[in-house]
Amino acid sequence: MKLFIDSGNLKDIESLVPLGIIDGITTNPSLLAKEPGDYREILKRICQTVKGPTSAEVVATDFDGMLREGRDLATIDDHIVVKVPFTKDGVRACKALSSEGIRVNVTLVFSPTQALIAAKVGATFVSPFVGRLDDIATSGMGLIGEILEIFDNYEFTTEVLVASVRHPLHIVEAARMGADICTCPAPVIESMFRHPLTDIGLERFLKDWEKAQAVKA
Ligand code: E4P
Repeated sequence: MKLFIDSGNLKDIESLVPLGIIDGITTNPSLLAKEPGDYREILKRICQTVKGPTSAEVVATDFDGMLREGRDLATIDDHIVVKVPFTKDGVRACKALSSEGIRVNVTLVFSPTQALIAAKVGATFVSPFVGRLDDIATSGMGLIGEILEIFDNYEFTTEVLVASVRHPLHIVEAARMGADICTCPAPVIESMFRHPLTDIGLERFLKDWEKAQAVKA
């Protein structure tokens, strides 16, 4: 399963990319709005750092505006994937941009029918939001299972990008289900590294080693 960072923050990205486990980045208008500076410059630097698919979202809500913004975002870097919201205009824009060879991530997906439509119009990625569904007492991971089953039935090549991830259990379940990608905030990725038994074990190994060296000296 590919691991993306869900962030527009260069410090987060620069600290995690050297670990060699990051395959791409997702941003959205809320995430980029938090970052000072020019969003095009930020996106360019993110692309140069991760050298993998980097989702940048349009803010226009009409078809022509989405096309214009999508084409413009795609000029920033070859790694840019244009993110469009799941609306009728977004679906049309996905079809048009995809036919021009621009990769599209259809976002704000909350149902299997929305995912099916996104796949039918050639989305490269579809982003179901699991955390926001859990927030309203609906199983986010249940939705992932349904989408994977549908895509498998028809051999759609659209990749299932699990979004709105809140904790490591979402990652475990996504991986067990065979989701293509999980995009996670930096603190959730950090939490994948932590286990108290690893810390205790390492401390004990080092102490035992030091003790043995002291005896031999
Ligand atoms: C992903 O592409 C979305 O931008 C993101 O995962 C949304 O997450 P949130 O529900 O935590 O805002």
